[in-house]
Amino acid sequence: MALLPILCYPDPRLHKVAKPVQAVDARVRALTEDMLATMYDANGIGLAATQVDVHERVIVIDVSEERNQPLVLINPELLWRSDDRQIGDEGCLSVPGIYDSVERAQAVRVRALDAAGNSREIEAEGLLAVCIQHEMDHLMGKVFVEYLSPLKRGRIKTKMLKQQKEQRQQAQHA
Ligand code: NI
Repeated sequence: MALLPILCYPDPRLHKVAKPVQAVDARVRALTEDMLATMYDANGIGLAATQVDVHERVIVIDVSEERNQPLVLINPELLWRSDDRQIGDEGCLSVPGIYDSVERAQAVRVRALDAAGNSREIEAEGLLAVCIQHEMDHLMGKVFVEYLSPLKRGRIKTKMLKQQKEQRQQAQHA
Protein backbone atom coordinates (compact mmCIF):
# COMPACT_ATOMS: atom_id res chain seq x y z
CA MET A 1 0.00 0.00 0.00
CA ALA A 2 1.12 3.51 -0.72
CA LEU A 3 -0.04 6.97 0.23
CA LEU A 4 -0.94 8.94 -2.89
CA PRO A 5 -0.45 12.69 -3.33
CA ILE A 6 -3.81 14.54 -3.29
CA LEU A 7 -4.42 17.28 -5.87
CA CYS A 8 -5.36 20.63 -4.37
CA TYR A 9 -7.89 23.11 -5.69
CA PRO A 10 -7.61 24.99 -8.05
CA ASP A 11 -5.52 22.34 -9.83
CA PRO A 12 -7.09 22.02 -13.32
CA ARG A 13 -6.75 18.22 -13.18
CA LEU A 14 -9.59 18.22 -10.62
CA HIS A 15 -11.90 19.19 -13.48
CA LYS A 16 -11.17 16.17 -15.68
CA VAL A 17 -14.09 13.81 -16.26
CA ALA A 18 -13.30 10.24 -15.15
CA LYS A 19 -13.74 7.26 -17.48
CA PRO A 20 -15.44 4.00 -16.50
CA VAL A 21 -13.24 1.21 -15.16
CA GLN A 22 -12.97 -1.51 -17.81
CA ALA A 23 -12.22 -4.43 -15.46
CA VAL A 24 -11.92 -4.74 -11.69
CA ASP A 25 -8.50 -6.36 -11.76
CA ALA A 26 -5.42 -6.37 -9.51
CA ARG A 27 -4.45 -2.88 -10.66
CA VAL A 28 -7.84 -1.44 -9.71
CA ARG A 29 -7.87 -3.32 -6.37
CA ALA A 30 -4.40 -1.91 -5.58
CA LEU A 31 -5.70 1.56 -6.45
CA THR A 32 -8.66 1.19 -4.04
CA GLU A 33 -6.30 0.02 -1.26
CA ASP A 34 -3.97 2.97 -1.82
CA MET A 35 -6.93 5.35 -1.93
CA LEU A 36 -8.31 3.97 1.36
CA ALA A 37 -4.90 4.28 3.03
CA THR A 38 -4.59 7.85 1.70
CA MET A 39 -8.10 8.77 2.89
CA TYR A 40 -7.57 7.34 6.39
CA ASP A 41 -4.14 8.98 6.67
CA ALA A 42 -5.68 12.37 5.80
CA ASN A 43 -8.66 11.82 8.18
CA GLY A 44 -11.10 12.12 5.31
CA ILE A 45 -14.48 10.39 4.95
CA GLY A 46 -14.29 10.03 1.18
CA LEU A 47 -11.88 10.19 -1.73
CA ALA A 48 -12.40 10.03 -5.48
CA ALA A 49 -9.72 8.74 -7.87
CA THR A 50 -9.79 12.15 -9.61
CA GLN A 51 -8.25 13.64 -6.45
CA VAL A 52 -5.20 11.40 -6.78
CA ASP A 53 -4.90 12.19 -10.50
CA VAL A 54 -6.37 8.88 -11.69
CA HIS A 55 -9.26 9.69 -14.00
CA GLU A 56 -11.32 6.53 -13.62
CA ARG A 57 -14.68 6.09 -11.88
CA VAL A 58 -13.49 4.88 -8.47
CA ILE A 59 -14.59 6.19 -5.05
CA VAL A 60 -13.72 5.14 -1.49
CA ILE A 61 -15.77 6.19 1.54
CA ASP A 62 -15.88 5.53 5.27
CA VAL A 63 -18.32 7.60 7.34
CA SER A 64 -18.14 5.30 10.41
CA GLU A 65 -16.96 6.66 13.77
CA GLU A 66 -14.57 3.73 14.19
CA ARG A 67 -13.08 4.14 10.69
CA ASN A 68 -13.58 0.44 10.03
CA GLN A 69 -16.34 0.33 7.40
CA PRO A 70 -14.63 1.02 4.09
CA LEU A 71 -16.92 1.30 1.10
CA VAL A 72 -15.56 0.98 -2.45
CA LEU A 73 -17.73 2.18 -5.34
CA ILE A 74 -16.52 1.46 -8.86
CA ASN A 75 -18.45 2.84 -11.84
CA PRO A 76 -21.18 4.26 -9.56
CA GLU A 77 -24.51 5.11 -11.21
CA LEU A 78 -27.15 7.24 -9.57
CA LEU A 79 -30.45 5.33 -9.74
CA TRP A 80 -32.60 7.66 -7.65
CA ARG A 81 -32.40 10.70 -5.46
CA SER A 82 -34.99 12.04 -3.04
CA ASP A 83 -36.82 15.31 -3.56
CA ASP A 84 -36.13 15.97 0.12
CA ARG A 85 -33.06 18.12 0.54
CA GLN A 86 -30.53 18.58 3.32
CA ILE A 87 -28.05 21.39 3.94
CA GLY A 88 -24.78 20.67 5.70
CA ASP A 89 -21.23 21.90 5.98
CA GLU A 90 -18.89 20.15 3.59
CA GLY A 91 -15.14 19.99 3.36
CA CYS A 92 -12.81 18.27 0.92
CA LEU A 93 -9.29 16.85 1.10
CA SER A 94 -8.56 18.83 -2.08
CA VAL A 95 -9.64 22.11 -0.43
CA PRO A 96 -7.97 21.81 2.99
CA GLY A 97 -9.28 23.95 5.82
CA ILE A 98 -12.39 25.17 3.95
CA TYR A 99 -15.89 24.22 5.09
CA ASP A 100 -19.11 25.66 3.73
CA SER A 101 -22.73 24.69 3.45
CA VAL A 102 -24.03 22.85 0.40
CA GLU A 103 -27.54 21.65 -0.37
CA ARG A 104 -27.88 18.01 -1.44
CA ALA A 105 -30.53 15.33 -1.79
CA GLN A 106 -31.39 13.78 1.60
CA ALA A 107 -31.24 10.24 0.19
CA VAL A 108 -29.85 8.48 -2.89
CA ARG A 109 -29.74 5.03 -4.38
CA VAL A 110 -26.68 4.02 -6.41
CA ARG A 111 -25.50 0.93 -8.23
CA ALA A 112 -21.76 0.23 -8.26
CA LEU A 113 -19.20 -2.54 -8.40
CA ASP A 114 -17.34 -3.39 -5.20
CA ALA A 115 -13.63 -4.24 -4.94
CA ALA A 116 -14.43 -7.86 -5.85
CA GLY A 117 -16.18 -6.70 -9.02
CA ASN A 118 -19.68 -7.58 -7.76
CA SER A 119 -22.56 -5.27 -8.60
CA ARG A 120 -24.41 -3.90 -5.56
CA GLU A 121 -27.14 -1.39 -4.91
CA ILE A 122 -26.78 0.95 -1.98
CA GLU A 123 -29.46 3.17 -0.52
CA ALA A 124 -28.02 5.93 1.63
CA GLU A 125 -29.29 8.93 3.56
CA GLY A 126 -27.84 11.70 5.68
CA LEU A 127 -24.04 11.96 5.80
CA LEU A 128 -23.42 8.89 3.62
CA ALA A 129 -25.76 10.27 0.94
CA VAL A 130 -23.92 13.61 1.06
CA CYS A 131 -20.57 11.86 0.78
CA ILE A 132 -21.66 9.74 -2.21
CA GLN A 133 -22.97 12.84 -4.03
CA HIS A 134 -19.80 14.82 -3.22
CA GLU A 135 -17.51 12.04 -4.49
CA MET A 136 -19.60 11.38 -7.61
CA ASP A 137 -19.28 15.10 -8.40
CA HIS A 138 -15.48 14.70 -8.27
CA LEU A 139 -15.70 12.01 -10.97
CA MET A 140 -17.50 14.56 -13.16
CA GLY A 141 -14.75 17.10 -12.52
CA LYS A 142 -16.78 19.11 -10.01
CA VAL A 143 -15.45 20.36 -6.66
CA PHE A 144 -17.94 21.38 -3.90
CA VAL A 145 -16.77 25.02 -3.94
CA GLU A 146 -18.46 25.28 -7.34
CA TYR A 147 -21.81 25.32 -5.45
CA LEU A 148 -20.73 28.48 -3.60
CA SER A 149 -21.08 32.05 -4.86
CA PRO A 150 -18.43 33.30 -7.33
CA LEU A 151 -17.28 35.75 -4.65
CA LYS A 152 -16.68 33.01 -2.06
CA ARG A 153 -15.09 30.75 -4.65
CA GLY A 154 -12.73 33.54 -5.70
CA ARG A 155 -11.66 34.07 -2.08
CA ILE A 156 -11.07 30.35 -1.60
CA LYS A 157 -9.01 30.17 -4.79
CA THR A 158 -6.83 33.08 -3.66
CA LYS A 159 -6.36 31.52 -0.20
CA MET A 160 -5.46 28.11 -1.66
CA LEU A 161 -2.92 29.59 -4.11
CA LYS A 162 -1.32 31.59 -1.26
CA GLN A 163 -1.11 28.45 0.94
CA GLN A 164 0.40 26.44 -1.91
CA LYS A 165 2.99 29.15 -2.58
CA GLU A 166 3.95 29.24 1.12
CA GLN A 167 4.28 25.45 1.18
CA ARG A 168 6.56 25.53 -1.86
CA GLN A 169 8.72 28.21 -0.23
CA GLN A 170 8.93 26.20 3.00
CA ALA A 171 9.94 23.12 1.04
CA GLN A 172 12.69 25.08 -0.70
CA HIS A 173 14.05 26.33 2.62
CA ALA A 174 13.87 22.96 4.39
NI1 NI B 1 -13.85 16.18 -2.04
